[in-house]
Formats: sequence, C-alpha cells, structure tokens
Amino acid sequence: MDLLHRVLFTAFGTLTLFYVVVKISLGYWKRRGILHEKPKFLWGNIKGVVGGKRHVLDALQTIYDTHKGQAPFVGCYALLKPFVMVLDLELVHNILVSDEGYFTSRGLYNNVNNEPLSGNLLQLDGHKWRSLHAKSVTVFTSSNLQKLMPRLVQVSKIFGGRIGEQKLQQLNVSQLVDGYNIEVIGSLAFGLTGDQVEFRQMSRSYWNNFSLWRAYLALELPLLARLLQYTSYDELATNYFYNLVHAQLYQQRLRDRQPLQNFLQLFSAADDALSDAQIAAQAFGFILAGLEPLNATLGFCLYELALQPDLQDRVRSEIQQLLHQHDGQLTADSLKQLKYTKQVLNETLRLHTPYPFLLRRATKEFELAKSVFVIARGNNLIIPVAAIHRDPSIYPDPLRFDPARFEAAAVKARPAMSFLPFGQGLRGCIAMQLAEQQLLIGLVALLQHHKYAPCAETQIPLQYDNRKLLLMPKTDIQLSVEYVDT
Ligand code: HEM
Ligand SMILES: *[C@@H]1O[C@H](CO)[C@@H](O)[C@H](O)[C@H]1NC(C)=O
Ligand SMILES: *[C@@H]1O[C@H](CO)[C@@H](O)[C@H](O)[C@H]1NC(C)=O
Ligand SMILES: *[C@@H]1O[C@H](CO)[C@@H](O)[C@H](O)[C@H]1NC(C)=O
Ligand SMILES: *[C@@H]1O[C@H](CO)[C@@H](O)[C@H](O)[C@H]1NC(C)=O
Repeated sequence: MDLLHRVLFTAFGTLTLFYVVVKISLGYWKRRGILHEKPKFLWGNIKGVVGGKRHVLDALQTIYDTHKGQAPFVGCYALLKPFVMVLDLELVHNILVSDEGYFTSRGLYNNVNNEPLSGNLLQLDGHKWRSLHAKSVTVFTSSNLQKLMPRLVQVSKIFGGRIGEQKLQQLNVSQLVDGYNIEVIGSLAFGLTGDQVEFRQMSRSYWNNFSLWRAYLALELPLLARLLQYTSYDELATNYFYNLVHAQLYQQRLRDRQPLQNFLQLFSAADDALSDAQIAAQAFGFILAGLEPLNATLGFCLYELALQPDLQDRVRSEIQQLLHQHDGQLTADSLKQLKYTKQVLNETLRLHTPYPFLLRRATKEFELAKSVFVIARGNNLIIPVAAIHRDPSIYPDPLRFDPARFEAAAVKARPAMSFLPFGQGLRGCIAMQLAEQQLLIGLVALLQHHKYAPCAETQIPLQYDNRKLLLMPKTDIQLSVEYVDT
C-alpha cells in the first residue's frame, strides 16, 4: 500500500511538474507583454511539423502572414522554445547588417570535444566562430575561386558526358545532380580524384542516426547534452571524413609545389594556419552546409525548366552562344555572360529557398530604434526568408516561376533584404560565390546537349519533404531527357 502510494504520488508529482514547466515555458511572451502567436500545449506554434504533417515553411508562413504589418516582430514558439520572428525588413537589415554585432551567434548545438567535425562555421558561436571565420574569409576569395575553377570545369565535363547520348531516356534527376555535387565537393574540399564510391556513400549516410527529439534536447539543454556526450552525426561517417582529411593532408605535405586544386591546400596554407582538426571540420562543412541546398537547387531548377520549355530554350541558347564564343572554354569571366541563366537560378532560389529561414541569437540586449521594444540578451531570432520570398506585396503572384523578376530594374524596385537565399552579413553563407559558380557550371553541363521534359512519373505540382528542415523534394525528381546534338 505504502509503495503504491509512493508510486502514485511520484507519478502525479512528475506530471504536475511537467505541466508547470510547459506552462511557464509557453508563457514567456505573455509575461513580457509582447505580441505573439498563441501557442498550443507542448507544440508551441509548430504543431504538425514534428510528425511530418506539414513543412516548417508552412508553419512559419502562417505566423508571418497573420502578423505582418502589426509590429516589427512577433513572438512564437518552436515546441517550448520561444523565438522572435522578425517581420519588418528594416529590422531584418539591422539584425543581419547594420547592427550585426549584437547578433553574431546562431545558437546551434556543437560538441567539439567529442565530435571534432561539429567545430564548423555553421555550428560554432562566440570566439571560436570568430577566429575560424577570420581565417576562412582569407580562403573563400574570388581569386582563389578562380584558381579552382579549372578543376570544377573538369568535374562538370566528366559529369556532362555521363548523362549519355541516348535519343530519349527517363532520368532520376535528383540522383543525377546529387552525383555531380558530391563529386565537386569530393574534389574541391577533400582533394579526391577518380572513383568516389565510399565518399558518396558516406556523404549520404552521416545523418543516419539523427533523432529529432535528441537534437531538440541538445538545443534546449546544451550543457547537459555535452555532459552526456551527445553527438549529432553517424560515427562511422564522421570517422571516415576525419581520417580522410588527415590522410590527404599527410599525402599533400609529402609532395611539394603542386598546382592549386583544392581547399585543403588553401586551408593549410592560410596565413594563420588552421589545425588539422579544424581543416577536417571545414571540409565536413561543405557536406553539412552545402550538399543538400546545391542538390535541391539544381533539381528544382531543372523541374521548373522542364515545365516551361520556352524558358529552357532561352537558357540553352545562352549557354551554347557562350561556349561557341569561347571555343567551349569556361572561365570565371565568361560565366558573367550567362545573364538569363543567373536570373533563372535566382528565381529558383526565391521560389524554392533551400534554407527557408535564418537563425540568430542576441548576444547583447538590443533596443529597437523609435520604439519601445527590446530584444533581450539570449533571445533566439528567426528570419522567415521563404515567407518573405512568397510575400505577394513584394513578389506579385508569388508561386509563379518567372525569371523576369530578376531583371535589373525589377531587382532595384524591391526593398533591401527581400532576397536572402544565402543570408547576409557576417554570418551569411561564406561560400555563396562558390555555390553560384558550381550551380552555373552544373547547368551548363546539364543543358548544353540535353532537353528536359515532364514524364508520367514527374510529380506535378512538386511537393516538399516535410521531414526535412531544408526545402527538398518529397520524392526524387524524374524527367524525360532528350539528347540534342549541336
Ligand atoms: C545553393 C547552395 C547554398 C545555399 C542556398 C546556402 C545558403 C546558406 C545560408 C542561408 C546560410 C545561413 C546564412 C545566414 O545565417 O545568414 C549559409 C551559411 C553557411 N554556408 Fe551556405 N549555402 C549554399 C552552399 C554552401 C556551400 C557549397 C558551402 C561550402 C563550404 C556553404 C558553407 C556555408 C557555411 C560554412 C555557412 C556558415 C557561415 C557562418 O555562420 O559563418 N554553403 N548558407
Ligand atoms: C540530394 O537531393 C535529392 C533530392 O533532390 C535526394 O534524394 C538525395 O538524397 C540528396 N542527396 C544528399 C547527399 O543529400
Ligand atoms: C549509429 O547507428 C549505427 C547503426 O546504423 C549503430 O551501430 C551506432 O551505434 C549508432 N551510433 C550512435 C552514436 O547512436
Ligand atoms: C542573384 O542573386 C545574387 C545573390 O543575392 C546577386 O548577387 C545577383 O546579382 C543576382 N543576379 C541576378 C541576375 O539577379
Ligand atoms: C532514384 O535513384 C536512386 C538510386 O539510383 C534510387 O534509390 C531511388 O529510388 C530513385 N528514385 C526513384 C523515384 O526512382
């Protein structure tokens, strides 16, 4: 009897404590007297996202559409975690650019001691981020990218050849572009040449052990997570990447005076050189931060071009003209001529924004100009980029794919901060230029000799994968591909 009582009391006590914790957490914005989206018990404002019923983009857009114009920002909750959702583009500009010193953190989890590869720019904050960032900006320069371009072009040519010369075939386009992007990253970031079977396999499997609940707890209670040695990625894959970088660096140091072919060389030659572990984390950063968005962007782009053959023809003729003028040689300079192709890429990045939101954490209290509002130290901020990209007051008829939106005059007429596929400011994408180059060169290889059209297996309209935070297609994009000899 005594035991039963104790069990009942303990259970009751635990439930009560749980209830109180949830209520207190979800009362944060109310206590601060700030306009907020009313939270649902336990789920906050992302009900349906965790179970995969809807995409996080959907949840964010609902909050944005409901409150835009009412205040510069609105409070909301991702499960129990309060977030400031920024609604006003001027405030976005403050946070990302003019007052970025208050918001240099992103607030992601990392655990460098137990998982060295988590020491990458995306996940680090504070002085560790600052010092790594300072070293990295000297590596991702235009002149270095130019030097790496021949290697990139070489990979793209092999890739283009692989699409084949069958008159008509049906292709798994997601798989196709995935192969190209992995090969570019294998070559440029890891210095691989030739066959990359194992690298390919590991690049697809490092999320194998991912558990959303554990990741959420790590984000909420990072100190406890570090104490419990929580790691984010599959051990097999991370060990492979780590050892691969070490082996490559070792090989590289045995040889001297080689032509510049990859980022490992650049990182180890930087003025204030990085440690080998830091270099490994940087190389892994390519896979972590770059692979999926590159992958998704090329897939989405081909999908849109398949649906609008007139746009596709225009891109192809621009590409063919460029190659014709330069004897088939691609250089950083000649890529500038691909004006329409760039518009198409930007429109893809607008409509299918791979990173649908940006994150910041306030490292100091920030008072909004001309207002009574304050963003408190430690507040987490969310900038709903995809919702901004789909705001009909900025982009009329937002769901229509229309590259004319990126003609120079149209771009100029829009407010600052209305196009943020790569973020902006100090914590913006460090590899934006590289990514654009890789995407453009990929499109050249894909479109030069091939025409794409929908087939019976093409999913129209395209659906997003609700289980991903990034915007990815729900099923692989399939298209019919025709070889055109020119
Ligand atoms: C289509 C391709 C890509 C897109 C759309 C993209 C987009 C982004 C975005 C939105 C952010 C966050 C920016 C912010 O918070 O303001 C970011 C950060 C970052 N990206 Fe990219 N990215 C792409 C490719 C790449 C590639 C290829 C790399 C390879 C190195 C890369 C490396 C990084 C890193 C290291 C950061 C963190 C920077 C920092 O916090 O200091 N990205 N990217
Ligand atoms: C690349 O994207 C496609 C969908 O577009 C997906 O099926 C594939 O798994 C992705 N690959 C990686 C390594 O993320
Ligand atoms: C990750 O998954 C593999 C099986 O795929 C398992 O053997 C391993 O113990 C897991 N690692 C962690 C840290 O959970
Ligand atoms: C596309 O977007 C990038 C990045 O925001 C920008 O630098 C570039 O000028 C844009 N190009 C066009 C054609 O709009
Ligand atoms: C695309 O190809 C990959 C590997 O070749 C395969 O696993 C996947 O199921 C394919 N997708 C579709 C929709 O056929």
